[in-house]
Amino acid sequence: MKTYTVTVTDKKSFQAAEGISLLKALNDAGIFLDAPCGGEGKCRKCKVILKGEEVLACRIHITEDLTISLPESAKENVVQQAATPDAPYAPLKEGYQLAFDIGTTTVVGYLLDKTDGRILKTEGMLNPQASFGADVISRIREAMGGSLIQLQNSIREALTAITEHLCEAFRISPEEISAVCVVGNPCMQQLFLGIMPDNLATVPFAPVLTKTEITKAADVIPSLTNADLLTVPDISGYVGADTLACVMAVEQYKKDGVMLMLDIGTNGEMVLGNKDRMAACSTAAGPALEGADIRFGMRAKDGAIDHVHAENGELKVHVIGETEAEGICGSGLIDAVAAALETEKINMFGRIQEEEETEEGRIIRLTDKVYLTQDDIRKVQLAKGAVAAGIELMMASLGITTEDIKEVSLAGAFGSYIDPASACRIGLIPEDLLNRTAAIGNAAGSGSVKMVKNHEVFLDSEKIKNRITFLELAALPEFQETFVEHMNFPGDEDEM
Ligand code: FES
Repeated sequence: MKTYTVTVTDKKSFQAAEGISLLKALNDAGIFLDAPCGGEGKCRKCKVILKGEEVLACRIHITEDLTISLPESAKENVVQQAATPDAPYAPLKEGYQLAFDIGTTTVVGYLLDKTDGRILKTEGMLNPQASFGADVISRIREAMGGSLIQLQNSIREALTAITEHLCEAFRISPEEISAVCVVGNPCMQQLFLGIMPDNLATVPFAPVLTKTEITKAADVIPSLTNADLLTVPDISGYVGADTLACVMAVEQYKKDGVMLMLDIGTNGEMVLGNKDRMAACSTAAGPALEGADIRFGMRAKDGAIDHVHAENGELKVHVIGETEAEGICGSGLIDAVAAALETEKINMFGRIQEEEETEEGRIIRLTDKVYLTQDDIRKVQLAKGAVAAGIELMMASLGITTEDIKEVSLAGAFGSYIDPASACRIGLIPEDLLNRTAAIGNAAGSGSVKMVKNHEVFLDSEKIKNRITFLELAALPEFQETFVEHMNFPGDEDEM
């Protein structure tokens, strides 16, 4: 097979087979670009500089030697902070411990002190699997299409690198780590463990990790020669160990009052209930609420509009880094839609009422460069409709109303950055729950820490998982209707 040399300025040169895409060649060489559409040429995120021009790496096929440079890499706003859980320090074995939360977008690791289990250091990075696609579905497709080993290796390398950094910072050897707990959604866990996620692609989407398991960590992170790997079970094929970790972190299963826990990322997972009963469901929130898949969507980094408010009928934006706006991230998007509703720039059906048109149709202008299209608004409606329908159907299954819900906890990156008032204004969360809503940070990470800190909590996670009833929304006859109802924004139909 003929090969060509690809040189990445300031990084490295490598050989790539003729005809493969530049995106794939870079992946194979361990250089991971953001590629939420999985190389279909739609997201326009996989840009590299070739011959002085920006091109999409997934659209370039290798037919000659190439020299490229990479655009400035994203300074990701990783939510790393995890509340130090208050469980007593009683690990499986003496030594330092590690806890990980593998998210579809970001990976966070925590090093725990060997004397009292406090978090010594936290380190996060983008999940390198992002170059195989932004969401779980594209990763499953890639794995089933023959890339399981690459996906497995890329995440194992990420955890190995985080382990090294954490250990180096405290001058300890990875051999001194006695246990490592890893949580993630079912797909992330399976890819990390090297288990083909085909069970997640076909009905009934049955989980394979249904019990707590203790195995050798060195099988997956070779430097951890003396550590046990604690695997936390999944609640269902689409509600994973990360959601269970949130439940363990906030001890939802001990609460008297009903709690709604929402973890909205690429998917929206939620658990509703208390010590008596708990139900969980997952909705395909899609990457829209995180700002991906949106005309000017971008991650929360310099140049991203992260907040929008209405002032005298106009939309005012705040840009991270106080620079010129280049795009909009998830929190900005929710705010922008809420402010557009407030100023009647869109109506309750989501139709843009503004005059300004581009070749993409009517738009809502945020800055000279950044605007929202009708398609963007539709994507927000689909995502928020799915989440809101999930909340309603879970309440129905437990026979409760919003009045019975005593607290709403927003977990994860999304929950930490969005304005709850905007989330309620667009109907993502029922409006009457606004004053009971609070962000709880990276609860999945916090739960992972708690389980490695206290072995009883880890063992209990299986029992708690068995107490949570999973609701398969798509299988409920009323789902479709509820979903469609919730696609509209809250408002008075007669005034439209
Ligand atoms: S456009 Fe290239 S990966 Fe999406």
